[in-house]
Amino acid sequence: MKTIGVLTSGGDAPGMNAAVRSVVRAALKKGMKVYGIRRGYCGLIDGDIVEMDEMSVSGTIHRGGTMLYTARSAEFRTAEGMQTAKENCEKFGLEGIVVIGGDGSFRGAADLSSLGIPCVGLPGTIDNDIACTEYTIGYDTAMNTAMELIDKLQDTSQSHDRCSVVEVMGRGAGFIAVNTAVACGAIEVITKEVPYDLDKIAKKMLECKKNGKQNFIIVVAESIGNASEIAKLIQEKTGIESRATVLGHVQRGGSPTVRDRVVASEMGYYAVELLEQGIGNRVVGIQDNKIVDFDIQEALSMKKPYDLRLHQIAEDIAFF
Ligand code: F6P
Repeated sequence: MKTIGVLTSGGDAPGMNAAVRSVVRAALKKGMKVYGIRRGYCGLIDGDIVEMDEMSVSGTIHRGGTMLYTARSAEFRTAEGMQTAKENCEKFGLEGIVVIGGDGSFRGAADLSSLGIPCVGLPGTIDNDIACTEYTIGYDTAMNTAMELIDKLQDTSQSHDRCSVVEVMGRGAGFIAVNTAVACGAIEVITKEVPYDLDKIAKKMLECKKNGKQNFIIVVAESIGNASEIAKLIQEKTGIESRATVLGHVQRGGSPTVRDRVVASEMGYYAVELLEQGIGNRVVGIQDNKIVDFDIQEALSMKKPYDLRLHQIAEDIAFF
């Protein structure tokens, strides 16, 4: 291939810029032309496509968000939208595209590949909910952000002898929740993957209180939702004043951690190597610390196991 495009799609994630930078620089190094497609598949339909050079990605590796902007495109899911996108690929001479995003973005990449534009997906989402990879770009930064914020809640909870019920992101998955719960010493983590019983949690809290514990953190996954309702019930059942905090989109921002920058750079480079060989319809991932790739359909059909052992550890090493 001589000319490729790169886009970011779906929810943004810290490290997306590092991935774009790697794709651009790797492609240029190999003598290819590379275009940035803005606002994901929306830009592919609208022709919002610009040629990138070495300087276009300069000074971006440490920045959160995505310099290419992002969007979720409903139009791209229609036959007309796909056709316009294909025509724009032809107009700009795009022979392949690197798509950085989550599951939804990969479905678009598979469709485009079947229309004759080979695409390679890079897993970019804070949720780490892509089954073919042990790690997604943005996950580490988001967890560190959540951890820092929960640490701050711990300070104020300690001062007031309170319980903080904190909702973290993760869409349908409890990966951010269980890891931050361990990292912050939460008394409990509530995710949809493991049944929970608020009466049992209340009993445990009261026993802890008897043993001298003054403040409590309960981490709730977004898939459970309702942090306010849980805080209200915990207060009713224990008499311990409780507050709910939803961390929300702040978890998606910020300068990427070392891990996110390095993984994004490695994956971006690998994606260009695949396209260089004319290989498309693949998703890049990490397995046992090695960069690997899968057929997109196969990747989308995989199920990612929840870490039940870490969930158990979170509960077993909490104060009791
Ligand atoms: O996939 C990333 C994510 O931040 C999820 O954790 C969350 O459920 C969703 O995106 C929020 O999406 P939006 O930014 O469209 O509100």
